[in-house]
This record gives sequence, C-alpha cells and structure tokens, in this order.
Amino acid sequence: MADTQEIVSVLTESRVFPPPEQFSQRAHIRGMQDYQRLWDEAEKDPQKYWGERAREELFWKEPFQTVLDWKPPHARWFVEGKTNLTYNCLDRHLPRLKDKPAILFEGEPGDRRSITYGELSQQVNRLANGLKSLGVKKGDRVGIYLPMVPEAAVAMLACARLGAVHSVVFGGFSAEALQERMKDAGVKVLLTADGGWRKGAVVPLMKNVEAALTHATGIEKVVVLTRTGDGKLPAGPKFLAWDALVKGQSDTCEPEWVESEHPLFILYTSGSTGKPKGVLHSTAGYAMMASLTTRWVFDLREDDVYWCTADVGWVTGHSYVVYGPLMNGVTTVLYEGAPTQPGPDRFWAIIERYKVSILYTAPTAIRAFMRLGDGPVKQHDLSSLRLLGSVGEPINPEAWMWYRDVIGGGRCPVVDTWWQTETGAIMISPLPGATPTKPGSATFPLPGIHAEILDRDGKRVPRGQGGLLFVTKPWPSMLRTVYGDPERYVKTYFSELPGMYFTGDGARTDADGYVWLMGRVDDVVNVAGHRLGTAEVESALVAHAKVAEAAVVGRPDDLKGTALVAFVTLKHGNAPSDALKKELAAHVAKEIGAIARPDEIRFAEGLPKTRSGKIMRRLLRDVAAGNHSTQDTTTLEDLNVLAALRQNDE
Ligand code: WT7
Repeated sequence: MADTQEIVSVLTESRVFPPPEQFSQRAHIRGMQDYQRLWDEAEKDPQKYWGERAREELFWKEPFQTVLDWKPPHARWFVEGKTNLTYNCLDRHLPRLKDKPAILFEGEPGDRRSITYGELSQQVNRLANGLKSLGVKKGDRVGIYLPMVPEAAVAMLACARLGAVHSVVFGGFSAEALQERMKDAGVKVLLTADGGWRKGAVVPLMKNVEAALTHATGIEKVVVLTRTGDGKLPAGPKFLAWDALVKGQSDTCEPEWVESEHPLFILYTSGSTGKPKGVLHSTAGYAMMASLTTRWVFDLREDDVYWCTADVGWVTGHSYVVYGPLMNGVTTVLYEGAPTQPGPDRFWAIIERYKVSILYTAPTAIRAFMRLGDGPVKQHDLSSLRLLGSVGEPINPEAWMWYRDVIGGGRCPVVDTWWQTETGAIMISPLPGATPTKPGSATFPLPGIHAEILDRDGKRVPRGQGGLLFVTKPWPSMLRTVYGDPERYVKTYFSELPGMYFTGDGARTDADGYVWLMGRVDDVVNVAGHRLGTAEVESALVAHAKVAEAAVVGRPDDLKGTALVAFVTLKHGNAPSDALKKELAAHVAKEIGAIARPDEIRFAEGLPKTRSGKIMRRLLRDVAAGNHSTQDTTTLEDLNVLAALRQNDE
C-alpha cells in the first residue's frame, strides 16, 4: 500500500455555500448546533445514542437489551432483538400509505407503471409464498439477476420476508461473473428475466444465465420474468416462469421474525486483487442506518418524489433505491435504461414528468451530462428539484458547480456522500439543512461515525495534511464478514491498524476540518519523491474548458520512479493536437504545481469503466505501461474502449 504521509494536496477551493435559509427552516436537522448536539450525544454515550436511533427507526417484534457486543473486529448490534425488514418497509405503512405510490417505474422503451404500497406488499407476499413453495427458507441464498424493473425490488423484499439472504448481481455482469458469484454464495434459487433494455438493445440476461449454468453453480431453480421476449422458457426442469410461480399464491405471508444479526444480503465488490469479495450485511443495524441516513441526508419529507439513479446491482441501489426510501414511506423512482436513451435529455424528462424533488446520482454521470452542454437540460422544467446528491467517487469542483447551478438552478443544496459497499450506509456527508458545503468536499462524518484520517502509526494527521481514512469505532451497518472467507475480512479491513476499519481511501482535512476524499490509496502515485492524489490531477484537467473526463495513472519511470500519464477525453467540438497537449500540461502545472504536470497526455474516445461507472485505473496503468493486461475484465462497461486505447499505442 502506498505511503500517503506526504501526499501533496494542493487543491484549493474557497467557495462556501451555506444551506439556503428556507431549506434550513423546515429541515430535520437545522444548523450546525443541531449537528453538534447529536454529535456530542453520540460521543458521550454511543450505546444510548445508537440504541435510541434503533428504537425510533425500526419496528421491533422483540426488543433488544444489548446495543453492541464488540469483540474487535467482530460486532453484534441490538443483539436480542427481532424484526423483519419488509415489515418495516411495507406493513407498518399500510394503514396510512396503502394507496400511495411506492414505486414509479419507467422502462427504457417508455413503458410506465405506478405501484402503490398496498400493491407492492401484495406482490412481495405472493413471490415470498412462491419462493417458499420452491423450498426456500430462512438462511438460504437466493440470487437476483434482473434489469432495473420493479420486480428487482419485489425480489429483494420477498427474500427478506422469508429471512432468505439475497445476492444481487448487476444485470450488466457477464455469464462468468454471474457464475462465480452464484457459486461462491451457494445460491439455491435464481430470480432472473429473459432480458432488459439498455441503449435501445436487449441485454441478454437469460443467455448469460444459461451460459453460467453450463458450469457448476449449485442452482436448483431459475425463475424467469418476461420483460423483453415472448415468454418462451429454455427447456429443462430447472426453469419456471415468474408468472406461473406467483399465480394463485396468497397475498399474505407472515414475515419471518429474524434476529438482528441475521444476514440480509451478500453483495460482491471488487477488491484490489482479482477475486470479488462477498460483503455480508446483517439485518437490523443495516436497516436502521439505511433508514436514518436516507431521512437525514436527503432531508426526506413524506411528499418527496425521490430518485436515486443507481442500479439495484450496487449497494447504492440496495440502500437508497429500495430499503431506505421504502422504510421512510416515500415514493421512489426506478428507471431501467441508459441516461441518454433515446435522447440526451432523458433524465431531465423523467424529473419533469414525475416532479422529482430529490436526485441522487454519480459524478461520472454529471460529467457526461456536462459534456453535452446545458441545451438538453434547458428543455425541461426542473423546478420540482429541491436537493441534489452525489456518490461513488470524488466530485470535482467544476462538476459540483455545474450540478448546483445548471441542474439545481442554484437553489438546491448539494450533498456529496461518501460511503462504501462495506459501510452499508452513508458515513460522511453534509446534512443539507445544517452544513455549509464546499464544492468537492464530503464535509463531515455523520453523528456517531468516527471517520478519522490517520497515518500508518495510527496517529491523527494535522489539518491540511493527507492520510488514510479509517473508521475507528464500530457502526451499526458495518459489514459483518466476507462471505465464506472470514480471514479476508480481518486481513483486508482490520490489519492496517488492529481493531480499526481501514477504508482503502486517502483523505485530508482542510483548515476548517472539512474532509476531502482523495481516491483509493492505491491510486496515489509518487512522482520524483512527491506524492500526488491522482484525483486532484484529474480534477485540474477536467476544470479545463476543453476536457470532458480524465484519468491519471502512474507509469514506472527510470528517472522519476513514477511518471504521470493522463488519459483525456475532450468535450464535443475539440480536436486532439500536440498544441492542446501542451496547453493541458501547462494548465495542470498552473492549477496544482509543476510536480503534477503530466509526463504524457493521451487522448481517448472514452475511458474504460466498470458497470458502475468507475474508471478502471488498473487497466489504464497497464495500458500506460504498455503491458498486455491479464486482469479480469468482466466488469468492463465497454471492451471496445480498451481496445481503442491499446491501438493508439501503435
Ligand atoms: C469507494 C466505494 C457507496 C457508494 C457507491 C460506491 C469511492 C464513494 C465517494 C465520494 C469520494 C467516493 C471511495 C470508496 N467513493 N463515494 N462521495 N467521494 N469517493 O461504493 O463501489 O463500494 O466504492 O468509492 O473510493 O472507497 P463502492
């Protein structure tokens, strides 16, 4: 791991945006005094603080006595309690919200469905009964490989109803990736669809499932939803139609009351090495924090129409498309397809159509929209928006400002939320009615969250200096283990400093104590003895008027140790040239300092990204070094992008 002690952090951002008065006045948490009061409470008596939050947030069939049993690095929260997550998402709302839309769905081809809380509850119970009829019981693992359709949420909830453990695999993953995950999780039943719509074409889910099944997986039954095809099933006793399974099932199904620590889901995420890790989350602690953070960070009100654009295949989809919003009884928007299908204004059309009030999306999407210019945005009335969120990677100030000004009309607070698959819920984020924001900073940890920037000896680094981001105390929604590999849990997360969770991220605070994320520490490079956060160089590049997106990686260099290679895509209408290379290098030197001047700038049509939109720096490092990559590429959004980059080598 890189030593970040002297990370050169020269990004300076002096703009501060206090919460708009009107927003603050009716917010759940108004002003920094409120924040501070909660923080102090949590600090003084964490057990009391978290215990109260858990009692407020969840319905308990049986109460807990022990708030936390912590035997580092293993935590058990709300130990004796029993609950059921679907009871919290559905049943408890029904007396009041039965006829309120829970899900507003829009398919890529334009088909629409509105599903009320009452209807969602019925669908969940029917599917739960269907799964029961296939022999699924508490603790069994169920795979979910579906497009972004309401049935994806129904599937997750049906599992939780029974105490079965769901493992969602993103619909964009390949057959190999699916097979590997299903086998690792020991999945018994797989819920899938014939296909889904993306960029005007069918994503062949069923074909991938069939390919996956040619290898050992342990899957006994495959339930197939008809979405894109004619409803014909592959031959064989393994396959059955979703409709046939739920037909005639009762729409009541008693919830399985599970212990707080009962596993809720396994979600695979890439580590720094090849094999993906099965991050395991348990029920009550996760549910409590998903619910609490959705309300606090997005300042939810009951009349909000809330749209988180993530796919349910990612943790963001779990916590902030499905569980968090439903626990809070709001309306959540689900969109199946690509952001620019059929035109560049699809997102904005959706916001106008459903009067979306809260939008939560990723910097990579924001930058892509920025590249398209303000035109498509201006075609729509976005006045329903009142809050904007960002997640997934550091957001560069340029994109943050565009998001705020062009999408938010200058009136919506922007919350840049830092968290991870492993943390289950948002950890560092502004509270929109309280925190003055700075473009590019995730601001402060939420009350009770001990996110701290330390050096390798565990010492807190002074303000202004960079270090490693740890969470030094347990929190309710922390991962419980790496499924099937408890040693990896300890090794990956708790070996850097014993008993403290290591995030893998570098960060620094500024003079006001604001937290600035600097990317994964393995993306930190040492150039001629100077350490640089690659994210900062990228931020400088994308601040240039002609640059759409940039990725910076290190390349071994005889003289400097590491040289900086920047991959750059240009905004529409700009042509690559040597003169522009020089201009960009000078621009970076000006923005950050000569030490950050890229040694090489390479123009590309697009950057290789994972399906979740993260730039694949590992691959770019190989391309930069001229190595033929042997790395696993199953998560590539578009292999052609990589091929094109390689070709430019010649
Ligand atoms: C990694 C976690 C959990 C959301 C989806 C990604 C990076 C995430 C931010 C942010 C800077 C961020 C970190 C983190 N990241 N949000 N607001 N600012 N970096 O989940 O796939 O588990 O990735 O994403 O590097 O470690 P994930």
